[in-house]
Amino acid sequence: MIKWLISLMMACSQTLALSACNPEDSPKKTENIVPELKPESNPVPSPEPTSDNGMFDLSEGENGNPPTLLLSSGYEMPIIGLGTYSLHDDVCVNAILAAVKLGYRKFDTASYYGNEEEVGKAIRTCGVLREELFVCTKLYPNQFADAEKAIEESLCKLNIGYVDLMLLHHPGAHDVEAYKAMERAVKNGKIRSIGVSNYYIKEMTDFLPKVNIKPTLVQNEIHPYYQEKEVVKFMHENGIAIEGWYPLGGRGYTAAMLGNETIGQIAKAHGKSPAQIILRWDLQNGIVIIPGSSNPDHQRENISLFDFELSSEEMAQIAALDRNEKHDWY
Ligand SMILES: NC(=O)c1ccc[n+]([C@@H]2O[C@H](COP(=O)([O-])OP(=O)(O)OC[C@H]3O[C@@H](n4cnc5c(N)ncnc54)[C@H](OP(=O)(O)O)[C@@H]3O)[C@@H](O)[C@H]2O)c1
Repeated sequence: MIKWLISLMMACSQTLALSACNPEDSPKKTENIVPELKPESNPVPSPEPTSDNGMFDLSEGENGNPPTLLLSSGYEMPIIGLGTYSLHDDVCVNAILAAVKLGYRKFDTASYYGNEEEVGKAIRTCGVLREELFVCTKLYPNQFADAEKAIEESLCKLNIGYVDLMLLHHPGAHDVEAYKAMERAVKNGKIRSIGVSNYYIKEMTDFLPKVNIKPTLVQNEIHPYYQEKEVVKFMHENGIAIEGWYPLGGRGYTAAMLGNETIGQIAKAHGKSPAQIILRWDLQNGIVIIPGSSNPDHQRENISLFDFELSSEEMAQIAALDRNEKHDWY
């Protein structure tokens, strides 16, 4: 009886804690049901992603229904997602709701973006089962010293039960301790997969021997002017999925990138937009993409990459555009 009372009190306090962290956005009857956390419920990790040398089987994809990649954690992840950097308030919620209707199931946010609450609200209200959606968030370096608290804050703001993927946003002081806090959260069922962002070959080589769970994914700047060919090869060889941020060059640079003559010629030959050519080039290189957009027409284009293929000559022409030109400092 006493045991029963204690577990009842614990269950009540957990429910209160969940709603107290986000009272206005706690799930309503019409919203996606927030699954209970299930410690140790993770599937048996597979040692490596099953794709061949990190390359995707794009024949499985359809416009609006991209293939998934099997992460080394044992979970599947769509190879196209929506980036949410700089999207806030209703613009963010509506962008995600529109994207879900177009077939997006993966969303990228970060505590640094200040929009985890909006992302969580959209996930809960979009009408698609939580288990069919994939949400990535990130811990910022100024949170690494107390990562356990930061993980709880993200879970609380998102309020979607568990996080599919959590990344360290950048290398920094206490990053190994922060990663170990994420490893514990994986054991507790709060996070399903973990990884890092803005880690290159040196950073990754230093980091790997210090952690117990190999990062499932690294998210780095990648676009035709900054291709990271060696980094992509290194990650693929090590069974680490690679995802490109700023796939269209990033805000402030997209006009120049989309106006590139070579890309324009290839786009014309296929009857596609320059954005579609760049994004298809990423996929044919085994790079997961998360283009950011609040415009449903652009979102539709960006998830419609499966009714054409770039030839090896066209892939080589885009490879030749690399000029080691980073569009952000990290
Ligand atoms: N880990 C990191 O350090 C890091 C850093 C930066 C970004 N990220 C992540 O990567 C995501 C992508 O980066 P980003 O959003 O900054 O840059 P991006 O995807 O390279 O470019 C986004 C810009 O491109 C426009 N756009 C999107 N699709 C288009 C299309 N089909 N045709 C023409 N224009 C198009 C968007 O405008 P509209 O809204 O009008 O479509 C927006 O202005 C971010 O949202 C974020 O999730 C991660």
